[in-house]
Amino acid sequence: MELLVTTSDNPTTAMLETGYKIATELGVLFVKKKRTSLATLKKQYNVDHVIVVTRNGPVVHTPGGEYFFHLSMAELRIKNLRNGKHDHMITAMTLEKGMSVLDCTLGLATDAIVASFVLGEDGLLVGIEYSPIIAMVTRWGLENFDGSDSEINGALRRIQVKQGDYEEYLAALPDKSFDVVYFDPMFRRPVYTSSSLRPLRYLANHNPLTSSAVASACRVAKRRVVMKEAAGSAEFERLGFKTLIGGKYSSIQYGVIELEPSAGGQLWSG
Ligand SMILES: C[S@@+](CC[C@H](N)C(=O)[O-])C[C@H]1O[C@@H](n2cnc3c(N)ncnc32)[C@H](O)[C@@H]1O
Repeated sequence: MELLVTTSDNPTTAMLETGYKIATELGVLFVKKKRTSLATLKKQYNVDHVIVVTRNGPVVHTPGGEYFFHLSMAELRIKNLRNGKHDHMITAMTLEKGMSVLDCTLGLATDAIVASFVLGEDGLLVGIEYSPIIAMVTRWGLENFDGSDSEINGALRRIQVKQGDYEEYLAALPDKSFDVVYFDPMFRRPVYTSSSLRPLRYLANHNPLTSSAVASACRVAKRRVVMKEAAGSAEFERLGFKTLIGGKYSSIQYGVIELEPSAGGQLWSG
């Protein structure tokens, strides 16, 4: 992918430093914008993606739109949990305070933020993301995004981001090292509910989940392996997820492989 990094107009020193740091990390060119339009920069440097460091963080300009960190549905899902409603992902994971979760497909970290909120300060959430650009945007957001809610900010700050391939990461982990291992691969058939997530499709790894990765996850997980997919997807059966959890009218479901019955099955409640 041809890519360069720049800043918005009139950058502060901090923005220039962030831009330079991101370009160095990604091994691409950093260009001072000097009021040149993005279209001109793209043409001049023959690139199709540009990362613009703005006052609100990095924005990736893809052919499918702008990609940047935001809380997406995490805020509403956390509000629902606080109001005593249940969240199908949390139910599928039988998540409790203090547990550990390995999110193999971190993406924008929406699911990870909800899980981290439930896990609390004594929990552990490690997220793996294949795409260096997505990992960079998510890491920036988790470290810097400042909403008005200190508990949500705390949930963001506690998530550890690892850039890499979950196959390799899982292979290097000891048996039973996380309570839950989670996968949310790119759906085989995309469900376009949010136009703000469409640019993700230009940056993400689209490879299907493999049976060998699920087998590794079953070795690494103590309690459960959970996979999110489109409701009715043939992926559940192909990969051995027999128990399905989800709302009757929901477009998504969570497949569960239970390795150890949950102790008492006590679910988190606000
Ligand atoms: C559907 S998105 C995940 C969205 C995420 N659950 C959220 O709430 O924001 C899938 C992500 O998994 C990443 N991915 C796919 N294959 C991967 C692999 N082998 N290792 C690590 N990440 C991978 C993709 O690049 C993409 O960002």
